[in-house]
Amino acid sequence: MPSSQLQADAHSVGATLNDIIAGYTGPAARLRDGMIYATSNGGKRMRAALVMGAARLASGNDQNSQGAQRTAAALEALHAYSLVHDDLPAMDDAQLRRGYPCTHIHFDEATAILVGDALQTMSFEILADPQTHNDAAVRIKLVATLATASGLDGMAGGQMLDLEAEQGGFDLEAVKAMQAMKTGALIKAAALCGGIVGGGDEGLLAALDGFSRNLGLAFQIADDLLDYQGNEEVLGKPVGQDAARGKGSFVTLLGLDEARQAAVDLVTEADAQLAPWGDDAAYLKSLAAFAIARKS
Ligand code: IPE
Ligand code: IPE
Ligand code: MG
Ligand code: MG
Ligand code: MG
Repeated sequence: MPSSQLQADAHSVGATLNDIIAGYTGPAARLRDGMIYATSNGGKRMRAALVMGAARLASGNDQNSQGAQRTAAALEALHAYSLVHDDLPAMDDAQLRRGYPCTHIHFDEATAILVGDALQTMSFEILADPQTHNDAAVRIKLVATLATASGLDGMAGGQMLDLEAEQGGFDLEAVKAMQAMKTGALIKAAALCGGIVGGGDEGLLAALDGFSRNLGLAFQIADDLLDYQGNEEVLGKPVGQDAARGKGSFVTLLGLDEARQAAVDLVTEADAQLAPWGDDAAYLKSLAAFAIARKS
């Protein structure tokens, strides 16, 4: 079960993101509706929670600042874009996402492409807005961190490698590098952007970097395990797709038991990075535990 803090963060960041998109009153109403569709309907909001947890750790007691909320909304918008495009026929060709028909099924393919495009650019618009932080240098750092994580050497690059992994020939190192890019980069950006918007020092940012690198890999191993063993109704997305496509993953290379153990070890390593912060890091550690215990 997700913690009540995770539920609270998921709810408040979801509302913040919805308000930002729903505030659009221009003529492209269909695109706006597609963006709302793609960003609501649940989702665990792990990246939002990581932003909020890291921002709280960085800022001491600043529980729910507008800047952290908006930063978390930007990360979720970017993530939602990656899912909309991931599900397209040219990529994973999925039908179900978060328990509902994928955006390209509910609307159409061209609309889904545009929904992804507009969500992606909106996330940077949110970060660049003075409402997110009054210091332009901080805003640029947020934008640069998310941009690096999303592009050639991050999520998009990892998605390219993921498609190539369907041809086989990926060993464990290659799978690790691919997972670190396609999933890990954005999870790392969430933790770092939380630390940045919360005013964390270099020491904390380095620890968040180490924590989230390990967490990102563990998170994708859990995703791969759920693709093999999950329940489609609970998961809200198709199962068995990776195996059907012969995709190289931790599970195919290590087997179920070893993959599960690797995820546990990575979470132990993630937590160790935050040891100096003791109980103040309890929430972030609970997110790491949730990342591998989850059933969806
Ligand atoms: C799914 O991410 C795609 C991956 C990067 C593994 P999540 O499992 O976080 O998806 P939602 O946001 O909860 O639906
Ligand atoms: C997707 O990985 C990672 C992204 C960058 C979107 P998957 O293709 O395994 O994600 P799911 O299983 O469809 O959520
Ligand atoms: Mg995919
Ligand atoms: Mg997919
Ligand atoms: Mg998957």
